[in-house]
Amino acid sequence: MSPAPLAGGLALVTGASRGIGLAVAGALEAAGAHVVRLARSLADGATETRTDLRCDVTDPAAVDRAVGRVLAERGVPDIIVNNAGLFFIKRIEEISPAEFARAIAVNLTGAFLVTRAVVPHLVQRGAGHVVTIGSVSDHVAYPGSTAYAASKFGLRGMHEVLQVDLARTGVRVTLISPGPVDTEMWDPVDPDSKPGFTKRKAMLRAEDVAAAVLYAVTQPPRLDVTEIRLMPTIYTPRG
Ligand SMILES: NC(=O)c1ccc[n+]([C@@H]2O[C@H](COP(=O)([O-])OP(=O)(O)OC[C@H]3O[C@@H](n4cnc5c(N)ncnc54)[C@H](OP(=O)(O)O)[C@@H]3O)[C@@H](O)[C@H]2O)c1
Repeated sequence: MSPAPLAGGLALVTGASRGIGLAVAGALEAAGAHVVRLARSLADGATETRTDLRCDVTDPAAVDRAVGRVLAERGVPDIIVNNAGLFFIKRIEEISPAEFARAIAVNLTGAFLVTRAVVPHLVQRGAGHVVTIGSVSDHVAYPGSTAYAASKFGLRGMHEVLQVDLARTGVRVTLISPGPVDTEMWDPVDPDSKPGFTKRKAMLRAEDVAAAVLYAVTQPPRLDVTEIRLMPTIYTPRG
C-alpha cells in the first residue's frame, strides 16, 4: 500500500464547518494531513487528525489569534485553503453598503488576513501551498452577481499578484474556480424553482472541488498548478 500523500502534513481550511470547506477538510484529512478547520460555528477542540477553531475570518485579531495558536501548537502549515465565503444575487441598486462591505469582508478580506498571517512563515521555510477557492464568478459576469463578482474578481487579482510575489520562494499558489456546486449556499436562491439557473441535481458536488484541491496540493515540487476551473458538464441524458 502506498503511504498517504499528505502524511505528517498540516493543513488549515477556512469555512470548513459545511459545504465545500468541510469536504476539502475531509479529503486532506483522508490523505493523511492534520487539518485545522476554521469557522464561526465550530467549537474549539481537537482529535489526533483534526483541530477545530472558532474563528470569524473578517476579524483581524481573531485570525491572528487562530493562526498564532496553530503556529505555537502544531507548527507552520503546509497548506492553507481560503474557502470561507458568502453569496447573494442582487442588482447594484438593491445592495446596501453594509451588504456589499460584508461580501468583500468575508470573501476577500478574510482570505487576505489568513494568507497575510501565514505566508511569511511559508516563505521562511521555503515551501508551502496557498489554495484559494474562487468561482466561475472570478472571471465571468452573471446577472446580479455584483458584490460576489467584485469579491471573487478581487480574489483572482490577489492570487495573481501572490503568484508573482512568491515566485522562486518555493511557495505555490492555486486558484480553484468552480461553477455551481450543490451546497447550502444555494438554499436562499432556490435555483430549481427559477428559469435560467443550473438545477441542483446538475451542479457539481463539494467532493468534486475537494478532489481538485487534493490534486493541486499533491503534485511533485516541480509542478505548480496555478489554476483549475471546474464546470458542470452540459449534458442531456438520452431516453
Ligand atoms: N456553492 C457554489 O456554487 C460555489 C461555487 C463556486 C465557489 N464557491 C465558493 O466556495 C466557498 C464555500 O462555499 P459553499 O458553497 O461551501 O458555502 P456554504 O455551504 O454556505 O459554506 C460557507 C462556509 O463559510 C463559512 N463562513 C462564512 N462566513 C464566515 C466567516 N465570517 N468566518 C469564517 N467562516 C465563515 C461558513 O461557516 P460558519 O457559518 O460556521 O462561519 C461555512 O463553513 C465560498 O468561497 C464560495 O464562494 C461556491
